[in-house]
Amino acid sequence: MMIEQFAKDVDQGLSQTQKKLPSKYFYDKKGDELFVKIMQLPEYYVTRAEMEIFSNQTHHIIQALQLNQSEYFELIELGAGDGSKTKKLLQALSQEGYQYDYMPIDISKNALDQLEKDLNEALPEVSIQQKHGDYFKILESLKHSHHPKVLLFLGSNIGNMTDEDASKFIYHLGESLNAGDKMLIGTDLIKPKAVVLPAYNDKKGITRNFNLNLLHRMNQELDADFNVEAFEHAPEYNEQEGIAKSYLKSLRDQVVTIPATGKSYQFEEDEKIHTEISRKYNDEIMAKILSATDFEIVAKLTDSQEHFADYILNRTDTNA
Ligand code: AVJ
Repeated sequence: MMIEQFAKDVDQGLSQTQKKLPSKYFYDKKGDELFVKIMQLPEYYVTRAEMEIFSNQTHHIIQALQLNQSEYFELIELGAGDGSKTKKLLQALSQEGYQYDYMPIDISKNALDQLEKDLNEALPEVSIQQKHGDYFKILESLKHSHHPKVLLFLGSNIGNMTDEDASKFIYHLGESLNAGDKMLIGTDLIKPKAVVLPAYNDKKGITRNFNLNLLHRMNQELDADFNVEAFEHAPEYNEQEGIAKSYLKSLRDQVVTIPATGKSYQFEEDEKIHTEISRKYNDEIMAKILSATDFEIVAKLTDSQEHFADYILNRTDTNA
């Protein structure tokens, strides 16, 4: 079932004139491990910049969320992550006497169990209700609780979507929220190429391996015969547009056969497979994305270098 969907997506992507593959398939076990290493790279400023906001402006975040100390709320995180940023927020909320449950949602049961274990040790006072499954299905099931909600979507994970998809995604999240509920969304900001490009082209070649892992995964799961050595990691960043793009470039004319799709695919020398976009933002781009949603910006917090922004959004009243 899962493999069938993977095969279908691969076939669809590789059958186009501009070949492409969905970036969500980076994250198998090996890909998860490589992404943890990426977050620790000196060039990958993204995680550290958001961590600075969560460490130094925790109280400011809480103020902007406009919570009521005497009313229980649900703090829902999309994606479990390693919890290092969220921990700062949880600690402060508990210290300041707020009443809430922390609900991380993830499709990986393993990631949720790991996170819960870490948090139980570090912050035993925090009540955790892990939610295993699809974001929208779980949000739909929580909709009926009528408790105030705060959604967290950190790490510029939104950046893997086109602006149009991001807009639809945020609108859809809003459908499970009530007026006055909040969302905190982490966004990497537009900045010079000299800063962005190295973050996707690190010296140790971890990001290269992360990108090439997609070929290994197709070999393993779809029985494909990609010669991984015959492709190279080719990242680009256009500062005007504000989008980092990753490609896998074929180093020669070659044919790859994928038994799971029942087809062969031809690659020309220098032909590129588009594997990822990492959108960078500014206020104008955010405003445009949000214009087709029921959210308004209530606060924007940035790190000291203005590399990253956490926007705090309010779910507006659709009847207003
Ligand atoms: C997890 C989507 C935020 O785009 O910066 C890191 C993924 N890809 N290096 C990003 C990623 C290559 C990352 N996000």
